[in-house]
Amino acid sequence: QMKSNFISLISHDLKNPLAKIQSVVARNLASSVEGPMANDLTAIQKYSEELDHYIRSILNIARVESQNIKLNIVPSDLNQLIDASIISLRPLAHDKNIKIDTDLAPLFLTEMDPILIKEALINIIENAIKYSPSGTVIAIKTFETDLHIVTEIKDQGYGISEAELQKVGQKFFRSASVPDSIKGSGLGLFLVKYFIELHSGKMEVVSILNQGTTVRIKLPNG
Ligand SMILES: Nc1ncnc2c1ncn2[C@@H]1O[C@H](COP(=O)(O)OP(=O)(O)OP(=O)(O)O)[C@@H](O)[C@H]1O
Ligand SMILES: [Mg+2]
Repeated sequence: QMKSNFISLISHDLKNPLAKIQSVVARNLASSVEGPMANDLTAIQKYSEELDHYIRSILNIARVESQNIKLNIVPSDLNQLIDASIISLRPLAHDKNIKIDTDLAPLFLTEMDPILIKEALINIIENAIKYSPSGTVIAIKTFETDLHIVTEIKDQGYGISEAELQKVGQKFFRSASVPDSIKGSGLGLFLVKYFIELHSGKMEVVSILNQGTTVRIKLPNG
């Protein structure tokens, strides 16, 4: 009970004021502000996004730990969720001059919780952007096998060493080789793994240090 009060406190009392800050900043940025003021507003926008990301992670962890996640399974268009995720991350990719290519197979609607799956996709694609040098390419592919609907997100980034690979998806894991300047809480893939497993699916990570990482999401087919 206390936990679910905590969750609603976070979701309501922290997210709402932050959303208001973001909308005020966006409004001011849109109205021809220039010079140092515009730079400051852009900085506030960036920090607000970071804060929003942390609040969302904490909220999701709290929901996971209180087993307060109810799947809302509906027939969903996976490719469309991928497109929507890419659109929301386009500014981040653009800042690093990272190109996102897609090769999406025609799929029937799939039974899933579109909100959780989109959350998972955003976390994976955000990692691919965060942990890649600028000027690289991210390739996102969907295809179908007899048993699975597979989504593959492949980057040309820093990669993860073989020794560390087994720790990916553990709560608070962050690779030792990642520069301190790249911020994160080590919760993203823990949540992804949890959300995918709630769907009886599987998350696989293949990586070669300094070459890149492929994250594969397998959802049951039918
Ligand atoms: N595509 C990737 N390429 C290289 N390393 C990665 C990639 N994705 C994840 N990692 C490594 O795995 C760690 C855990 O990722 P995860 O998304 O769980 O946490 P995070 O990105 O550090 O923080 P956040 O909770 O904000 O997502 C990262 O810190 C990074 O070291
Ligand atoms: Mg992450």
